[in-house]
Amino acid sequence: MNDVYKKLETCLKSVREKTDFRPETALILGSGLGNYADEKDVKIEKKIPYHEIEGFPTSTVPGHKGQFVFGYVGDVPVVIMQRRVHYYDGYPMSEEVLPTRLMGMLGAKKLILTNAAGGVNYDYSPGDFMIIKDHITQFIPSPLIGANPDELGPRFPDMSAVYDKELRRTIRRIADNLNIPVQEGVYVQFTGPAYETPSEIKMCRTLGGDAVGMSTACEAMAANHMGMQICGISCITNMACGMTKTPLSHEEVQKTADRVAIQFKTLITALIKTTGTGE
Ligand code: HPA
Repeated sequence: MNDVYKKLETCLKSVREKTDFRPETALILGSGLGNYADEKDVKIEKKIPYHEIEGFPTSTVPGHKGQFVFGYVGDVPVVIMQRRVHYYDGYPMSEEVLPTRLMGMLGAKKLILTNAAGGVNYDYSPGDFMIIKDHITQFIPSPLIGANPDELGPRFPDMSAVYDKELRRTIRRIADNLNIPVQEGVYVQFTGPAYETPSEIKMCRTLGGDAVGMSTACEAMAANHMGMQICGISCITNMACGMTKTPLSHEEVQKTADRVAIQFKTLITALIKTTGTGE
C-alpha cells in the first residue's frame, strides 16, 4: 500500500477509536479564528488533541496546541481544525496536508479554508476579507509529489476550478447580506516562516497575486486531488512587505485578526449553515 495512504489509515483508525462522528463540512481555522470552535456557534460533540492521534503532525510553535473539534453548526455536522500545521514547522508537504486528507476520509465533502494573509493588491486594506478565487503554489513543493495515493485521487489532477464557483458566489451573497465588505482575489503561498521581501511582493503583484501567506493553497491542492468541494477566505491582516513604511510583525497580524474576528465568525457560521444540508 502507498505509504501516505498507510499513514492516513493509521490516523483514521486512531480517530475512529475515539469517535464515530461523520462530518459533512471541514473547516480549517487560520490566525485569529482559532477560538471559533470554543464559541456558542458550535455545539461541540468531541475534541481530539492532535497529539492523541497516532502519526499525526503537530505544530512546533510554542503554545500552539492543536485539536480537532467535532460538532454541529446549526444542523450541519462539522470537523474543525483548531490550529493547522505549516510547512515551516519542518514536516514534508505530504505531512502538512495529512490532516486535510484525513478530514476528507472522515466523511467531509466540503472544505472551508481560512487564513491570515498579507495584502498585495493596493486596493486592499488591513481588515478586509478576500474570497480566494485561485492560487499560485509554484514557490512551494507540491504536496502531491511522490508515489500517488491512488485511493485518494488521480496522478495528474485537473486544477482548473479548485475554489468552487457556487461556494464563492454564496460567500459573496452572505457577506453582502451581513454588510461585510469582501474582495475576491488570487492567493500566493510561500514557505515562510520569514515574511517576504519587498521584491518578492512586487513579483507577486506582477504575477497576478492579490494576497500572500504561508498556508492554505497546499491544503486546497490535496483536497482538490480527492474531489472535495473547496472554498477559502483570507483575512487581510496587513499590507505585504514594502507597501507601508512599518516593518511586519506577528503582533500586527494577530491584532488585525482579533479586530475582525467577530465578523469573520459570523461569516463562517452563515456559510456553513447555508451550504450544509445537515443530512
Ligand atoms: N506574508 C505572509 N504571510 C502572512 C502575512 C504576510 O504579509 N500576513 C499574514 N500572514
